[in-house]
Amino acid sequence: MVFVWQIDKKCSDTLQFMADLTGKHIVLGLSGGIACYKAAELCRALIKEGATVQVVMSEAAAQFITPVTMQALSGRPVFTSQWDERQDNNMAHINLGREADAIVIAPASADFIAKLLHGRADDLLSLMCLARPIDKVPLLIAPAMNREMWAHPATQRNLAQLQADGATLLGVGSGFQACGETGDGRMLEPQELLQDVVAFFQPKVLAGQFVLVTAGPTYEALDPVRGITNLSSGKMGFAIARAAHEAGAQVTLVAGPVSQPTPRGVQRIDVRSAQEMQAAVMLRIGAASVFVATAAVADWRPAEAAEHKIKKASSGLPPFISLTENPDILGAVAQLPRAQLKVGEKGRLFCVGFAAESQDLLHNTSAKRERKGVPLLVGNIGPATFGQDDNALLLVDANNVRELAHNTKLALARQLVADIARRLHA
Ligand code: C5P
Repeated sequence: MVFVWQIDKKCSDTLQFMADLTGKHIVLGLSGGIACYKAAELCRALIKEGATVQVVMSEAAAQFITPVTMQALSGRPVFTSQWDERQDNNMAHINLGREADAIVIAPASADFIAKLLHGRADDLLSLMCLARPIDKVPLLIAPAMNREMWAHPATQRNLAQLQADGATLLGVGSGFQACGETGDGRMLEPQELLQDVVAFFQPKVLAGQFVLVTAGPTYEALDPVRGITNLSSGKMGFAIARAAHEAGAQVTLVAGPVSQPTPRGVQRIDVRSAQEMQAAVMLRIGAASVFVATAAVADWRPAEAAEHKIKKASSGLPPFISLTENPDILGAVAQLPRAQLKVGEKGRLFCVGFAAESQDLLHNTSAKRERKGVPLLVGNIGPATFGQDDNALLLVDANNVRELAHNTKLALARQLVADIARRLHA
């Protein structure tokens, strides 16, 4: 088979990637709370990600931020009253909800949450939530309140019941509050809420799975100030961790030294050396059902790390550095009995490896798959993708080759996750 593989740089420069919320219509509901100021930024973020946004505000919300601001940001007139005459049938509470792919209440005050729970409907926002078709229009809630209000059994009871009634709780942040106290109950930051809304719309193809991912380079110390590492940014592995979480999996990410932000909902374990990465993986592999090794693990480490900085010798000769081989983490995991089980066998661990090559991708990826003893190996051109936000992947298994065309790393990660999910259930 002849396989042509290259990333056309000109094409990659001009390629337009699809935003995550393209085609989605969000009704953004604001109830009264100081966190309304964050709703302005959330509105922008949703629109930037491709959504159309219709803002509905309670009377109390309009005390904190003006409908003018929200209209300017959303590009649509804001609705605040159930008596609004702009709708032909005068039924804003029905019409607005019917058009939505989701209603996001941000901020959701303690009072508004209590109102929702009781099915009260004495203003447009609560009326619209009650009138929404529960099976078709999801309701996402981003609470915002003082820490005592948040911790109060009434609030916690109300939230538990709201979730039982089908609403999705987006959680709260912790920290300094406008009232001067510190604790839980802050509304999540706009970018966190955006990630949660985007995640909500992803198909839950990995629900019930526990995915362990390695990412980034490793750093092998030579002395206290120098070491051996590589150019891996960790972006691909972090994108896979995010995509797996979006797909409903419980995800642990073992990360080498990188400065990437931790994806929402992902448990992150920071390590430095290959040996630390191996220990962190082996401690958690027993619970995993999928292992994705994207880390660019250093092949060798200095046989001994000097206790103090190695000084230049007066002879002018460079120091002699003896190297020793690092453990092959993927290779060791792939040898575990659970990794040898076949599709459908109970307790199976599905292993996926990566190959960063500079040429002859298909040949090198196939050879590496056999050498590592894993069912799926993903090839990519290292120099073309290190540090970039985009990539192209080649999925190689025992019988087939599948190309995932040039795209953002997150889009590719989602495609890879969907591919893994199919293999788990094949
Ligand atoms: O052996 P090589 O580095 O080419 O293999 C790459 C694959 O093996 C990647 O999935 C990488 O994360 C994994 N690997 C590993 N431990 C090593 C070397 C590579 O897990 N010591």
